[in-house]
Formats: sequence, structure tokens, C-alpha cells
Amino acid sequence: MTRDEARKKIIFALDVNGLDEIDRFAGLLSGRVGMFKIGKELFTACGRDAVLAVQRQGGQVFLDLKFHDIPNTVAKAMLEAARLGVQLANLHALGGYEMMETAATAVRREFGDARPRLLAVTILTSSTAETLQRVGIDHPVDQMVVRLARLAQDAGMDGVVASPQEIELIRQACGPEFLIVTPGVRPSFAALDDQKRVMTPAEAVRSGADYLVIGRPIARAVEPAVAAEKIVDEIVAGCP
Ligand code: C5P
Repeated sequence: MTRDEARKKIIFALDVNGLDEIDRFAGLLSGRVGMFKIGKELFTACGRDAVLAVQRQGGQVFLDLKFHDIPNTVAKAMLEAARLGVQLANLHALGGYEMMETAATAVRREFGDARPRLLAVTILTSSTAETLQRVGIDHPVDQMVVRLARLAQDAGMDGVVASPQEIELIRQACGPEFLIVTPGVRPSFAALDDQKRVMTPAEAVRSGADYLVIGRPIARAVEPAVAAEKIVDEIVAGCP
């Protein structure tokens, strides 16, 4: 794999809450990582200015707002995400087939091939079998993950967000074209922080991940740009 291909796989989790920090990280990392992930904290704090700030520095955006609502509302929210010019956006597969299909159809109709790729979150990795049981779902987590990934694909979604341990099952179930984006990745030089079952970047790519979401190993490094380059090195070395 080339350095450029490896770089494009890295999505930096922009887990900050102000525009100054966006400018700092986007300035340091644009061109070194493939994308910047803007989640609920940053979007609630700064709104669309957060997206525009990344884009001003030439960065691409994964809008990680995990929509879950009635089909019409989610479709309209997704259209607004697409109008913002983001490259990836997501929703909860547990919102159901009709919710996903309505959103996917609306975005495909208006944006065609220039659309953001739409991802589904299957089961949050913070959920256990007990979490599911308490809301009335008696199936094991991994069965639910595969079932929801297939449902998302049938509904026209482009891919899923999944933990590293789920990548191979989903790849088998959904085929080579379906996008898999995985957090829970730790380069060999970094601390685990609160992540538990992690893979290294190269392991995750070899398992079949298309994109890796990585935050603190880059953000907390003394030199974030150097940390990003080391991750690129690891992917290139581990994925011939
Ligand atoms: O700093 P770190 O690399 O752990 O950041 C990972 C990012 O991915 C965070 O934004 C976190 O919220 C997100 N995430 C995760 N695990 C999930 C889903 C999302 O770590 N299962």
C-alpha cells in the first residue's frame, strides 16, 4: 500500500469543542490524514461553522451525528448534511429499514455519485448483551451487528461503523464494496486510554477496514503531525 492510500484511511476524531482548536488541528493535519470526524459535542458547540472551519483548511469531513428519528426527519437532516459538503455521515440502523431507505434514496436522488457516503451504526460498542436484554433484544450482540449491517445494505446504505472485532464478520456478510469504518484503533506507540479491545492500524486494515477513526493517539501527541506520519508508516509496513 502507498503512503497516500494509507493516509486516506485515517479519520482524525476532532474531539474538541472550539473553533480555535479546529483551526489548530486542521492546520497541522490537513494533507496528513484523510478526514476529520465532527461529532455531537463539537457540532452542538459550534454547528456548521465546525464543518466550514475544517473545509477552509482543505480537510474532508465525517459528520458523526448518528441520526435516529422518523424517516422524514432523518432524510431531511441527511440532505442538509449532504448540502454541507461532508464526505461521510451516519445514522442508527436501529431506526429501521424504512428510516434508512428513505434517507439513502433522498440523498442518492439529489446528489448521485457526488453524495456523501452514508454509514449505519449497528450496535454501539458500549452496549453489552445485558444492555440489549434490558431493551427487549434477546439476541447476542454479534448476531445483531451482522443482522443490522445486512439490513443497512439492503436499505441502500454505503457502509457501517463497527468495532475492530466485528470487521471480518461484516466483510463476510456484506461483501467487498461495503464500507467499514472502525474506531478502537491504537498504533503501537500509543496508550490504550479507555479503549479496551483494540487493534493496531495495520491489523484493522488487514481485517478489512476501509477507514480508521483515531483521536487521542494523534491529538495528545507532542507533535500531532509526527504521530499521524508514524501511523501511516505502520499501515504501509503492515499492509504490503
Ligand atoms: O481518542 P480515540 O482514538 O479513542 O477516539 C475514538 C473516536 O471514535 C471517539 O470520537 C469516539 O467517540 C469514537 N468511537 C469509539 N468507539 C465507538 C464508537 C465511536 O471510540 N464504538
